[in-house]
Amino acid sequence: MSEGTRQKFDGYANLYDEWFMKNENLFTSELRLFKKVLGDISGKKLLSVGCGSGLFESYIDSSNIEGIEPSKDMGQIAEKRGVNVIKYGMIEDVDLPDENYDIIYFNGSSSYMEDLKPVYEKSLKALKAGGKLILLDVPKESAFGFMYLLGKSLGTYEHEYLEGTMPALPYPLGLASSGVWHSTEEKIGVLKGLGVERFSFYQTLIKNPLYTNEEPEEVAEGYKSGGYVAIIAEK
Ligand SMILES: C[S@@+](CC[C@H](N)C(=O)[O-])C[C@H]1O[C@@H](n2cnc3c(N)ncnc32)[C@H](O)[C@@H]1O
Repeated sequence: MSEGTRQKFDGYANLYDEWFMKNENLFTSELRLFKKVLGDISGKKLLSVGCGSGLFESYIDSSNIEGIEPSKDMGQIAEKRGVNVIKYGMIEDVDLPDENYDIIYFNGSSSYMEDLKPVYEKSLKALKAGGKLILLDVPKESAFGFMYLLGKSLGTYEHEYLEGTMPALPYPLGLASSGVWHSTEEKIGVLKGLGVERFSFYQTLIKNPLYTNEEPEEVAEGYKSGGYVAIIAEK
């Protein structure tokens, strides 16, 4: 396990959950997207790659959800919330059985991985035929992506040119800065290169970040407007 990634979320477990609880409407919008793209999971076997604290899983039946998580801080909370954490480590270092899962999903975790091709390849192998690889992330090209890259570049969200444009409680700067923000097209390109032909896309957080937490948003089809986008890739 790389020490670097473990440090990214160790120490952030409480702050991470707290941020979502304080941005309750933003969280509800993301949760709606999460539930929509997972669909009916009854009787299915799922793997959550980078399950974190299991915050989203705590709102669904997590009894058939396995998790992989490099941060002990985060993963131990996920276990209490019912996720079966099968490995405290990075997906890159885990051997997964072939054709074993109905759904493998990365909820926000691709945004902390440099090289997506080997991890998506491994995940596709571990899916049953007809299974789904689901990737949910803040796209690099979205307003949220710009904001996080700005924070990462400046070491702060504060800049005189941007006065009056930032949300009251932006995502913790440390987590925005340690992100490896990918564009949606980049991820689609990786998946196409791995032979995926069947895709669907859903999005939320369409409003500008300043207004995102005013009220929960409905899930919309597509990926070109949202600050949180799901790619569903069918094996
Ligand atoms: C933004 S958090 C999302 C956590 C959780 N999925 C959620 O939606 O609340 C990203 C998670 O990915 C994990 N992560 C980062 N790099 C990873 C890797 N190489 N393999 C597996 N998980 C990783 C982090 O430790 C962190 O818990």
